[in-house]
Amino acid sequence: MNKKPLIALLSLLISSTTLWAQNLVKLLPGKDTITINKHIYGHFAEHLGRCIYDGIYVGEDNKTVPHTNGVRNDVIEALKKLNIPNLRWPGGCFADTYHWKDGIGPKGKRPSIVNTWWGGVTENNSFGTHDFLNMCELLGTEPYLAGNVGSGEVQELADWVQYVNFDGKSPMSDLRRENGRDKPWKVKFWGVGNEAWGCGGNMTPEYYADVYRKYATFMSDWTNSGGLFRIASGANSDNYEWTETLMKKIPKSLVKGLALHHYAVIDWQKKGSATMYTDEQYFKTMKSAWFMNELVEKHSAIMDKYDPKKEIALVVDEWGGWYEVEPGTNPGFLYQQNTMRDAMIAGMTLNIFNNHAERVRMANLAQTVNVLQAVILTEGDKMLVTPTYHVLEMYKVHQDARLVPIEVNSQKLSFNGESIPAVSASASIAEDGNTHISLVNIDPKNQQEITIDLSDRKYKNLNGRLLTSKKLRDFNSFENPGYIKPEIFKGAKMKNNQISVTLPPFSVAVLALN
Ligand code: AHR
Repeated sequence: MNKKPLIALLSLLISSTTLWAQNLVKLLPGKDTITINKHIYGHFAEHLGRCIYDGIYVGEDNKTVPHTNGVRNDVIEALKKLNIPNLRWPGGCFADTYHWKDGIGPKGKRPSIVNTWWGGVTENNSFGTHDFLNMCELLGTEPYLAGNVGSGEVQELADWVQYVNFDGKSPMSDLRRENGRDKPWKVKFWGVGNEAWGCGGNMTPEYYADVYRKYATFMSDWTNSGGLFRIASGANSDNYEWTETLMKKIPKSLVKGLALHHYAVIDWQKKGSATMYTDEQYFKTMKSAWFMNELVEKHSAIMDKYDPKKEIALVVDEWGGWYEVEPGTNPGFLYQQNTMRDAMIAGMTLNIFNNHAERVRMANLAQTVNVLQAVILTEGDKMLVTPTYHVLEMYKVHQDARLVPIEVNSQKLSFNGESIPAVSASASIAEDGNTHISLVNIDPKNQQEITIDLSDRKYKNLNGRLLTSKKLRDFNSFENPGYIKPEIFKGAKMKNNQISVTLPPFSVAVLALN
């Protein structure tokens, strides 16, 4: 019997199944040589509103909230489950007003300061360098210290490095020992100022590049023997001139990372409610979040011109959604609720970072507790985790995994004549051999049929987890803290080298294959 017509018919059927699918995700065959740096999954805790004080730190004398050396136990437990790789501190804008020596030594003797950027509140400096670095040890996370360049001194930052990192005998390491810590913490990640174009000093890129060179020089020695990973304050969103100037003017020997800040915001003058948003506001937030893809590509292209070997990392050390504060709360505290819209921002943004892992090697969601797109909210002794938290927890499988390059053909999400892709995805292979594919459908109304073409990759088992809710504007409240949580995903079926997925509206799924 001539089998050729049958084979031709079969292959036509297979390819037309692919064509019929609304969306196609293709895992490209190849070597998977790029690692998704776990530091893409970093967090950020600033002295801002109730992030540090009340959110993370309730003080050693607190009798109502269980704590370890003043740090809330519930927050520690929740953060540990995320495997947070690094934590940025003490700011943000606050960093360029912070004098670290105010936050060491006996707590009763520390001077009070006014937090000028964030609500003008007075704080007593009871959470300082030792408190933060010891907490990082407790969390098993790497600290990322942001140095004061705006209102500080070169010597002050050089002293901080010596205080936390120097093993031998020196004025600063002796002071550290006097304050109860013998061994240095060996902090690797250092930000040289923050938003130098704005709250960090309103500098021009040319001026900041020179200032950076000076600070970076005195933080270290000839060969950077301490292995400091110095990060230059980077561009605000699409300020490409900033990146171009810094790449041109800062010698590679002085810098390991160049930062970038971008928030998913509708309009800085009219940011809209965190929970009661219109369909148009939802679309605009998604559009601003998806803009990260273009930002990462364009800033990377500039970096490629000066650094073709990609030795300098693009560090997106502030990202997330930014809305009006919750009614009745201090406008300077940036406290906002977190709905499924935020889960969409998180899933989509992390897919973008994963897919650009060759250049994006570190990032920090803003912020950890009670501020902006928080993973944790607290109220007195109560704590809840947000939909964003769940996305970070589901995506932790990508940390330090090998990126699988993919192609995505997606349906569009359109509004008033504008459109962005409805589906985003990324894939990686973990150390244990499992492949993970994360999929996001930001369409608020329509489910998506997705065909995943596995190419030459062979798997026997498929499992999945899904995060969605009944309504887009749903959130976890203190009355119902576990309302939104991941569930087992049953909408994916594998046959031969294809997976057919039905992804509900506004949902995030992570598939595990082996
Ligand atoms: O994350 C809140 C603020 O946003 C940070 O302090 C600042 O760097 C940015 O403008």
